[in-house]
Amino acid sequence: MIVTPSPQSLELAITILKKGDLIGLPTETVYGLAGDATNDLAVAKIFESKNRPSINPLIIHGSSQETLKNHVEWNTFAQLLADSFWPGPLTLVLPRKASSSISLLASCGLETLAVRIPNHPVALNLLSAITKPLAAPSANRSGRVSSTRAEHVEEDFPTLVILDGGDTTIGLESTILDLTTPHPTLLRPGGISREELEEVIGPISLPTTGGIKAPGMMKSHYAPSLPLRLNALEARTGEAFLGFGPTLAQSNLNLSVTGDLREAAVNLFKMLRLLDRKDFKGIAVAQIPTQGLGLALNDRLQRASAPRDI
Ligand code: TXA
Ligand code: MG
Repeated sequence: MIVTPSPQSLELAITILKKGDLIGLPTETVYGLAGDATNDLAVAKIFESKNRPSINPLIIHGSSQETLKNHVEWNTFAQLLADSFWPGPLTLVLPRKASSSISLLASCGLETLAVRIPNHPVALNLLSAITKPLAAPSANRSGRVSSTRAEHVEEDFPTLVILDGGDTTIGLESTILDLTTPHPTLLRPGGISREELEEVIGPISLPTTGGIKAPGMMKSHYAPSLPLRLNALEARTGEAFLGFGPTLAQSNLNLSVTGDLREAAVNLFKMLRLLDRKDFKGIAVAQIPTQGLGLALNDRLQRASAPRDI
């Protein structure tokens, strides 16, 4: 059920969360499937309803630096980054405090926690009203395309109460930065670009390959039902074409006619969902540059096109 944000629906959401049940939560990146991060049962329900592998930990959302500092060991990089980008699409991985009340299941037994403050009025209102951190993975069945509007969430979770926050303004998940390594390491490119981060804290490392450090970095992810073909110049017979930038090729949809990466990020998941139709046999996607938000766009497309047998 999609509900319009109001004092009453906020109360309803709080009641549901306090009972250990889940709600659909709008953020600026993608919609989240949110539960009380301090309640083991609620966290278990998140894994269960997403059909999510239990080795893939969840991001913990708070309304303020102060509340999150109760759960993680803070450091200078964290302070600089939080002051620059929070609330916003940046998730910081930090050592978990021994005294933290966050469910161990949420972090899959890791000694670290991934934390962020989302930049969406509905999420911020709810988080400060409930005064508990919320664990919230993207509100899609595991491995599938993330949700950028309430209706997408409802398709995957028909019985869920979903707070309607309209279309998300970023459209890609948060950037995940590991601050527990000697040099800050980019675990997942996302809504804040690597270049923006480096302006604040200097050079950051890319993860060494092998091993799943951010377990969500599974190869097949964000996948529509149809196969995806990347760096395409045009559609082949039966394919839909998802264009980028000014193009002479016939495109069914275009991520951004002007070649604006921010606009393309907002459109990516929505357009993949729109083209994922039985009357096509595949989706061909135009080449997208790799600088700025292009890094995250290419990351999502590569995973969406990876073999599905994982
Ligand atoms: O924008 C977002 O981050 C959205 C919204 C809802 O906040 N959430 C999201 O969650 O994308 P999810 O569950 O789809 O992705 C969480 C990612 C996974 O790749 C997971 O492996 C990583 O965060 N992660 C969580 N805790 C971690 C930790 N302690 N260390 C390393 N990676 C972690
Ligand atoms: Mg996800």
